[in-house]
Amino acid sequence: MIDRLWSKFVKPSSDKASTLTVENVPQHVAIIMDGNGRWAKSRGLPRIAGHHTGMKAVKQITMAADRLGVKYLTLYAFSTENWKRPKAEVDFLMKLPQEFLAIELEELIANNVQVRMMGYREALPGHTVEALEEAMLRTANNTGLILNFALNYGSRKEMTDAVKLIAEAVRDGKLSPDQIDESTMSEHLFTSGIPDPDLLIRTSGELRLSNFMLWQLAYSEMWFTDVYWPDFSESHFHEAIAEYQRRARRYGGL
Ligand code: FPP
Repeated sequence: MIDRLWSKFVKPSSDKASTLTVENVPQHVAIIMDGNGRWAKSRGLPRIAGHHTGMKAVKQITMAADRLGVKYLTLYAFSTENWKRPKAEVDFLMKLPQEFLAIELEELIANNVQVRMMGYREALPGHTVEALEEAMLRTANNTGLILNFALNYGSRKEMTDAVKLIAEAVRDGKLSPDQIDESTMSEHLFTSGIPDPDLLIRTSGELRLSNFMLWQLAYSEMWFTDVYWPDFSESHFHEAIAEYQRRARRYGGL
């Protein structure tokens, strides 16, 4: 593992990231990719230009995470609340997974990346689901980084649905209330079988969770930056990981 890390390690370029070590790399990093609209506005461009450039940052950070040996990268690409945006913007966002995968899938495969998605597929356009399903099928046996897109994802709905499934199991006599514990909940979430994020990153200066992985982030370290997502680079990512490595995680203990 360490050999692999050293061989793929890219020396961080910024000072703040210079203390990055190959040990204690977070296993699971989750990112709220925010600030695409403001990035575009600050350049006099339409909002969709921010989303399009944001897609390029997705590629950069996926490769950076892979090089460091991160095992899971979960990216918040579209929330259950994002449908409230103008239709033209929603339509554009729904085409991005398809465009991204058309350009990048072969390289993701070459790098042993496995693509997954979490969220409510039923409401997504057919072309979006088809592109993701093809990518998931073609990468299903890959053993490297797991690139998990949160698409039409909302944490409160995810938890409410989990409670409903558990209640049904109790009603049907398959489960007794005494048997319900934290792992019962975890097993009924989209992230069943995936460890909780070690590190949450949110870009663009906003300091909130926006209905993202509320259960799974209970003990995650959080790192916020004012940088807008389209400008978020490998060196910013290294800065976040270096800060994570300086923190002592106590999980409520001493
Ligand atoms: C939030 O910024 C961003 C989104 C709602 C969309 C995020 C999507 C991408 C970064 C591209 C995804 C790419 C793939 C491959 C799925 P915002 O629009 O809310 O920005 P603002 O707060 O500045 O308006």
